[in-house]
Amino acid sequence: MVLDHVNKHFGELHVLNDINLTVDRGEVVIVIGPSGSGKSTLCRSINRLETIDDGTITIDGETLPEEGRPLARLRADVGMVFQSFNLFAHKTILENVTLGPIKVRGMPKAKAREEAMALLERVGVANQAQKYPAQLSGGQQQRVAIARSLAMHPKVMLFDEPTSALDPEMINEVLDVMADLAKEGMTMIVVTHEMGFARKAANRVVFMADGKVVEQATPEEFFTNPQSDRAKDFLSKILTH
Ligand SMILES: Nc1ncnc2c1ncn2[C@@H]1O[C@H](COP(=O)(O)OP(=O)(O)OP(=O)(O)O)[C@@H](O)[C@H]1O
Ligand SMILES: [Mg+2]
Repeated sequence: MVLDHVNKHFGELHVLNDINLTVDRGEVVIVIGPSGSGKSTLCRSINRLETIDDGTITIDGETLPEEGRPLARLRADVGMVFQSFNLFAHKTILENVTLGPIKVRGMPKAKAREEAMALLERVGVANQAQKYPAQLSGGQQQRVAIARSLAMHPKVMLFDEPTSALDPEMINEVLDVMADLAKEGMTMIVVTHEMGFARKAANRVVFMADGKVVEQATPEEFFTNPQSDRAKDFLSKILTH
C-alpha cells in the first residue's frame, strides 16, 4: 500500500500534511503520536471514510476509487477495527460475521457460516456464536470485530486504538489475536500506544505529529533512541503513565 503526497484539510486545519508512506505486503506498521496528530484521519482516509484533498492512496497498485460499486469492493479489501466495537446490536455474533461476505462478496450462506465459525474459533469466541453483542465482554466483542473484518478477506487490516476502550484484563486477549495475525503475514496498520505489542509484532513505528510523519524507525530504535524532540517529548509523557 502506498500513500503518495496525501493532503487533507478540515477547514483551516491541515490534518494530513504531505503524508508519504509505503507499507509492504505482510508488514506491520504501528502509528503513534499525540492526540489530534491525525492518526484516525489517516486510517479513515485509507478506508475512504474520509476524502483526501490531493495525493494518491493505492493498494496493490490500484488507486482507491471515488464512489459506487468499485469503492464498496475496494473498501472491503481494507478491514477496519475501531476503538468502539461497532457490532450490529440486533444481530447475533455469527450473523455479524456472515453479513458482509453474503451481502458484499456474494458468498453462499452455508460457506459464509462455515468460514465465520472457523474465524470465531480462531479468535476464541466460537462458543458465543448465537449470542448478541451486548451479552459479550468488551474483549470478546473486539475479537468478534476482528473476525468480522477478516471474513471479508481483506488485503490490509487497519486498527485504530483497538484496545483503548477495554478494561486492562481484556487488552492482552485482543493484542494476542492481533499478534497472531501479524505472524501469519497480514498487512497491518495499527494505531496504538501499546509498546509491548509494538515491540513484539511491529516491523516499523511511524510517529506522527501535527499531521506529518515526523519519524519512522524499528520499534527498538524508536522506543530506545527517538530522534526528534517531538518524539522524545511524547515518549517521556507516555512512559511515565
Ligand atoms: N470531522 C472532522 N471535522 C473537523 N475536524 C476534525 C474532524 N475529525 C478530526 N478533526 C480534527 O483533526 C485533527 C486530527 O484528528 P484525529 O482524530 O485524526 O487525531 P488522532 O491522532 O486520531 O487523535 P487521538 O489520539 O485523540 O485519537 C484534530 O485536531 C481533530 O480535532
Ligand atoms: Mg484517533
